[in-house]
Amino acid sequence: MEVLEAIRTRRSIRRYKDTPVDDRTIELVLEAARWAPSWTNTQCWRFIVVRDSNIKAELANILGDNKATDAIRSAPVVIVACAEIGKSGYYGGETPATDKGDYWFMFDVALAMQNLVLAAHSLGLGTVHVGLFDAKKVAHLLEVSQGFCVVSMTPLGYPDQEPKIRPRKELSEIVFYDRWH
Ligand SMILES: Cc1cc2nc3c(=O)[nH]c(=O)nc-3n(C[C@H](O)[C@H](O)[C@H](O)COP(=O)(O)O)c2cc1C
Repeated sequence: MEVLEAIRTRRSIRRYKDTPVDDRTIELVLEAARWAPSWTNTQCWRFIVVRDSNIKAELANILGDNKATDAIRSAPVVIVACAEIGKSGYYGGETPATDKGDYWFMFDVALAMQNLVLAAHSLGLGTVHVGLFDAKKVAHLLEVSQGFCVVSMTPLGYPDQEPKIRPRKELSEIVFYDRWH
């Protein structure tokens, strides 16, 4: 699938078939994530591929009241994105290089996860970025190493719905030329 078409036709998928996703396909979407750009190429991202039904159920419990909870429980795979703290946003030394502090790890992980969801879509798979949950509880459940945090997750599987297109702001509302206004 061509990149612009993938960007335009991707939708958040919250209902999945129980058709399994094979290892090669999972590797392909993780490869897409791996090739994302990152702060001084620090590649702070880490990914946990969850297939175990009990762990997916526990993730869903942590999500609680979230539109993606059932998807996390029922999709054949969940990918949890983590980040190493103290790498992205630094340019030598221990003081963050910009006014964004160390939040550049969010940017890097988002780039990788967006590569992943677009690659998934191009292969006929569905995903939804999920950020509304207690990341510390997820880190504890998945035994994430010290110095790393959980950022987001997505279910991964074959879509069992054709969701409506969510509207977008017009370019005239969000783009300025030369100066603000
Ligand atoms: C950073 C981020 C966090 C999100 N968190 C959630 C979430 O917790 N639960 C959920 O169901 N959708 C979540 N979404 C999906 C958005 O609701 C969705 O992308 C948006 O409504 C646009 O719809 P579309 O993806 O189908 O174009 C999140 C998206 C982003 C980018």
